[in-house]
Amino acid sequence: MSEFQKVNALTGMKDVLPPESAQWEALEAEVRDWLASYGYLNLRTPILEQTRLFSRGIGEVTDIVEKEMYSFVDPLNDERLTMRPEFTAGMVRSTIEHNFLYDRPRRVYAMGPVFRHEKPQRGRYRQFHQIDVEALGFAGPDVDAELIIMLGRLWRRLGLTDIRLELNSLGQADERAAHRTALIAYLEQHVDVLDEEARRRMYANPLRVLDTKNPVMQDMADQAPRLFDFLGEASLAHYRGLCARLDDAGIAYTFNARLVRGLDYYNLTVFEWVTDRLGAQGTVCGGGRYDGLIELLGGKPAPAVGFAIGVERLLDLCAQKDDIIHPVECQLYLIHQGEAGQRTAAQLAESLRDAGWRVLVHAGSSGFKSQFRRADASGAIAAIILGEDELASRCATVKWLRQQASSGQAQQESIPFDRLVTELQSRI
Ligand code: HAM
Repeated sequence: MSEFQKVNALTGMKDVLPPESAQWEALEAEVRDWLASYGYLNLRTPILEQTRLFSRGIGEVTDIVEKEMYSFVDPLNDERLTMRPEFTAGMVRSTIEHNFLYDRPRRVYAMGPVFRHEKPQRGRYRQFHQIDVEALGFAGPDVDAELIIMLGRLWRRLGLTDIRLELNSLGQADERAAHRTALIAYLEQHVDVLDEEARRRMYANPLRVLDTKNPVMQDMADQAPRLFDFLGEASLAHYRGLCARLDDAGIAYTFNARLVRGLDYYNLTVFEWVTDRLGAQGTVCGGGRYDGLIELLGGKPAPAVGFAIGVERLLDLCAQKDDIIHPVECQLYLIHQGEAGQRTAAQLAESLRDAGWRVLVHAGSSGFKSQFRRADASGAIAAIILGEDELASRCATVKWLRQQASSGQAQQESIPFDRLVTELQSRI
């Protein structure tokens, strides 16, 4: 026994093994197809970025920046770095850096891991995955609507029901400033029910106080002045424009005046898709418009809107239906005897792969019985046997392992090596 103390994955960070990984791959393939059907192209950014990108972009007084980021000083060059807690800030950084909007607006997406140091529970992890979609350079409510309608289509494609849309508008900076004054005055009157965090945030970021989960503060938050009531005509028109288009598409929504989102960059449209089927972490997707972020991060002003889906939560929902995928390792499993058998198997396997089959050659040398057990466990349709007799006659024995493939055929048959590909192609 080694003295090395075994290593486990970090708390809140999960391995994904087969067969579960097959559900991930199937979802990713479906999502890529769905994104392509709306003209979205892939933009990949690094996981590590400068810390100040996120503190500036997401906002200093947010849960993410205050307490959830994996940040450290790189000892090799003293840079302050952070593992991305979301995609948007990095996508915007990249857009600015490469002058990506110079000739036209862009629709882009990214998928991958993001990191937040939260308390893990079902649907809440420290490394989780997002499907992030951003429409950069688009101002109108038409694109806000397009994004939401697009999500409606994804839920349909995945066969998901029981997922509802909540909408709000956070207006523009001047409207938020007027509301902020009223909100601070209100919070000052209710200081007695505010928890420590709310007291700390009430001047720096009062809107965040309304985002509280603290049950004691719910009544206070419900009665607070609503930002929506401070919206001017242009902001209301944007909101109505969005609603009209959702109505056209038959997408139902609920207005939620308390929906403020956990990141500071939003204006006008914000939305979340929520389900009751996932316990406490029921938000599957969140997003909204962030017309000020590109400029805030040093770019030429340009409007933008986007969303991110939590992949673990989406897969949890998908797993509640019964069409789970059972992955197979291969279609054909090659069994052999002796060194000559193994070498012939390796060569035949290559020509079978040339023909498009997924093939495994038994590794090492074992008895036929244990090779057959492996062949069966691999999910293969057929085992192809290359023993001494087969090598002598240059005819492989094909043993059908699955009922449906062998129906109407012999359980086992002998096929000459040089006809193996064509014979198999005609059978399977
Ligand atoms: P967010 O609401 O912070 O938005 O995250 C989006 C989604 O990620 C959530 O709705 C949830 O499904 C999932 N999620 C968040 N935290 C966790 C966690 N700890 N464990 C598992 N899943 C989680 C954003 O990140 C914005 N960047 C979205 C956006 C894109 N807005 C505009 N463009």
